[in-house]
Amino acid sequence: MTPTEPTGERIQKILARRGVGSRRVCDGMVSAGRVTVNGEVAAAGRRIDPEHDVVAVDGVALAVRPGMAHYLLNKPAGVISTASDPRGRPTVVDLVPAQPRVFPVGRLDADTEGLLILTNDGDLAFRLTHPSVGVEKAYLAKVVGTPSPAALRRLRLGVELEDGITSPAKVALTPPDLLRLVIHEGRNRQVRRMCEAVGHPVVRLARFRIGPLTDPSLRPGAWRALTPAEVRSLEQAAASGDADA
Ligand code: URA
Repeated sequence: MTPTEPTGERIQKILARRGVGSRRVCDGMVSAGRVTVNGEVAAAGRRIDPEHDVVAVDGVALAVRPGMAHYLLNKPAGVISTASDPRGRPTVVDLVPAQPRVFPVGRLDADTEGLLILTNDGDLAFRLTHPSVGVEKAYLAKVVGTPSPAALRRLRLGVELEDGITSPAKVALTPPDLLRLVIHEGRNRQVRRMCEAVGHPVVRLARFRIGPLTDPSLRPGAWRALTPAEVRSLEQAAASGDADA
């Protein structure tokens, strides 16, 4: 039997190439247990897939590009999506590392839970939020009552709101009261207003996908760095406007 060739690159080599330190310094960091791969302490000589594994030193993820940070946060209800709040409420930036300074890409209402990207990558943020791009966002909404087929059709085709009719949406009902909605606009409180307009106000709302990004294992309040492959898939989605890119 031929032994299988080890795949991936040695962790020390990746650290040195990303400018963390010399090979010797990086060896020392690994031996000291300061380096993790996907949250677990890495053994010396561990091989990783640099595209898909998240490597961190002292709990800080290595940047996809020097100086860049891209995080995926599962925002809990009650936390607001701005960098600071005059009323002193907790904000999403309080939940991620303070340095480098990052900001949320788009917003979730204070009472909405779910996935939010935070980054200092202004270019990507601009492209993801630009109305012409329309990266898909998927939500689960618990609503009052059971929407009728007619109400579902209205949600799918477009609902008249005070700021204009909404674009076609993908909508599925899990009876009696759970709606899965996929929209690609980013208007203020859009899902809540759409559901309200068809007679079914939202009781609880959570976003579970942004373009190609999803992570059912990320608990409310938890964050993680995006992998290089995820950042690239987002860049592709932002370039094509296609969530499933
Ligand atoms: N739609 C809403 O109503 N609220 C959000 O936070 C996001 C989308």
